[in-house]
Amino acid sequence: ESKTYFGEELLRWYRKVRRDLPWRRSRDPYHIWVSEIMLQQTRVDTVIPYFNRFVHRFPSLTELALAPEEDVLKHWEGLGYYSRARNLQSAAREVVSEYGGRVPSDKRQVSGLKGVGPYTTGAILSIAYNQPEPAVDGNVMRVLSRYFCLEDDIARPATRIRMETLAQSLIPEGEAADFNQALMELGALVCTPKSPSCGECPVRTMCLGRLEGRERELPVKTKA
Ligand code: ADE
Repeated sequence: ESKTYFGEELLRWYRKVRRDLPWRRSRDPYHIWVSEIMLQQTRVDTVIPYFNRFVHRFPSLTELALAPEEDVLKHWEGLGYYSRARNLQSAAREVVSEYGGRVPSDKRQVSGLKGVGPYTTGAILSIAYNQPEPAVDGNVMRVLSRYFCLEDDIARPATRIRMETLAQSLIPEGEAADFNQALMELGALVCTPKSPSCGECPVRTMCLGRLEGRERELPVKTKA
């Protein structure tokens, strides 16, 4: 079936091309969290030095919680979207006071943290705890729209929810952490917005968008 094919081929590919990124050397949920917040509006190459400095200065969630806010903002300088840093610190304080300083592994608790939306919740649960939760961002919606040739408008909340259900159904047993990162990696490196490198795609032979010659028209997105 095309779902098993998708997951298995994607994992095989990822294990071959996987980039050695600083947050991939760690399974510390705090590190995963920081990286995912930084990566939300910022490219990987830019994030790397910021991530390294940040976890060097704030090696644990407790140290982040206890730091003066201006110190946190100072380490964010140049990344922009400073509310991300403020929310991260206030969420770190919540984790210290509510959960004894350990990032929770319960979906409701994670998603209740300040600045942590559905994507980040899924990323933390899957990458740090290998829970079979989807982590659907714009890259992932693009990949799925193309592979399944879905014309749903990705600007609609209902589409995101449909994509989350679909993404979750594709996770190979016990492989959530690698599978979700593989999906992000495919979107970032191969199934790119303007001119996808279908020749390098591990799932091209079953990609409906490509088979119908419509990969460049997908995903459909109405509003900016
Ligand atoms: N973009 C968002 N999350 C990422 C991750 N874990 N690795 C690489 N790029 C990402």
